[in-house]
Amino acid sequence: MTRAAVLAGVGATVPPRVVTNDELARRLDTSDEWIRTRTGIVQRHVIDPGMTTGDLAVEAGQRALKSAGTTTVDLVVLATTTPDRPCPATAPSVATRIGLVGVPAFDVAAVCSGFLYALQVGADAIAAGHAERVLVIGAETFSTILDPADRSTAAIFGDGAGAVVLRAGQPDEPGAVRHVQLGSDGSMADLITVRGGGAEERSGGRPPLPEDAYFRMAGKSVFFTAVRRMAESSRTVLERTGWQVTDVDRVVAHQANVRIIHAVAEQLGIPADRAVINIDRVGNTSAASIPLALADGAADGRLTPGDRVLLTAFGGGATWGAATLTWPDVMVG
Ligand code: UT7
Repeated sequence: MTRAAVLAGVGATVPPRVVTNDELARRLDTSDEWIRTRTGIVQRHVIDPGMTTGDLAVEAGQRALKSAGTTTVDLVVLATTTPDRPCPATAPSVATRIGLVGVPAFDVAAVCSGFLYALQVGADAIAAGHAERVLVIGAETFSTILDPADRSTAAIFGDGAGAVVLRAGQPDEPGAVRHVQLGSDGSMADLITVRGGGAEERSGGRPPLPEDAYFRMAGKSVFFTAVRRMAESSRTVLERTGWQVTDVDRVVAHQANVRIIHAVAEQLGIPADRAVINIDRVGNTSAASIPLALADGAADGRLTPGDRVLLTAFGGGATWGAATLTWPDVMVG
C-alpha cells in the first residue's frame, strides 16, 4: 500500500501577555466593538521584549514531540514570516535547541499559507521515503513587524506558534494527510508586504524609508480574493480526496477574520458551526494559525478521532492552499 504521512502529535503555545481590544483602543483610533464585529477578534497574545519567533517555535515543537511520544525526527520545517534574523534561517537554531542537532532544518516563507506549504514538504518527504518522522512548525511574532500606529493591522495580528509531528504510515489510518493543494500569484505581492529589509531596498540606491520596515496589508482587496481562493482550493482538494462537502466534519481555516471563515464555509456549502474558530482568543497568527487552531480544537474536543478535516489558508505572495486529513487519536502536548 502507498506510504503516507500520518499526524502523530500536536502542540502549540502563545506568549503570556494578553492585549485586549480595549487596551488597543486606549492608544489607537479603534474600538472593541469595531474589532469584534469586523474580525471576530477579542484579544491577542504578544511577546515580551527579548522573546523571539524561535523561542515560540521551540516551545511548540517540544510540545508536539511530547504529544507524539518521540524525541527524534529526520527533518524540521519551520513556516514563518518573522524569522529571528534575515540570515540564517531560524529552523536550524530551533532544531538544535530542541536537541535535534544534525537534522536538516529550514524555513518556509509563504506568510499565512506557510503552515500548509510546510505540511506539504513534510508529507512529501515521508511519502518519498526520505524521512520517517518530520516536525512541522508554524511560528510568528508579527508584533515585531507591525506599525504600532496602523490600526488596520495592529488590531488584527497576534504572536504564537503551533506544530505537528508527522510519521510514516498508511493513507487509510486515522491522522493520514490525504491531499494538499497549493497555489500562488505574485502579481498580488504588494497587497500583503514588508517593503524594506530585502535586496530591493538595499540595491535601490535610496536611503531606507522608516515606514518600509513595517508590515502593510490592503485588507479590503485581500478579503474577497482570500475567500475565492480558499473555496477553490478546498473544492480541488476535496475532489482529489474523493470527499463530498457533506463528508467534511471540521474546517480548520487560517484564522484571518471570522467573516472570511464563514464566507468560505458558505461558498462551499458547509455549515458555519463545523469551522473551528479560535481567532477570538489569539487573533491572526499567520503561519501559526492553523496548527494553533488544531491544538485548540483537539484540546477542547472540537476535533475528535476519525473526524474528516479540511484545512485551508490564504496569505501574502499571494499564496493559498488546502489540505485534507482525518483526525487521529492524539493528546495535545
Ligand atoms: O492573513 C492573511 C490574509 N489576510 C486577510 O485575509 C485579511 C483580509 N481582510 C480583512 O480581514 C479585512 O479587510 C480587515 C479586517 C483587515 C478590515 O475590515 P474591512 O471591513 O474590510 O474594513 P476596511 O478596510 O474596508 O475599512 C473600513 C473602515 C475604514 O474607514 P473609512 O475609510 O470607511 O472611514 C478603515 O479606516 O474601517 C476603518 N478601520 C478601522 N476602524 C476602526 C480599519 N481598521 C480599523 C480599526 N478600527 N482597527
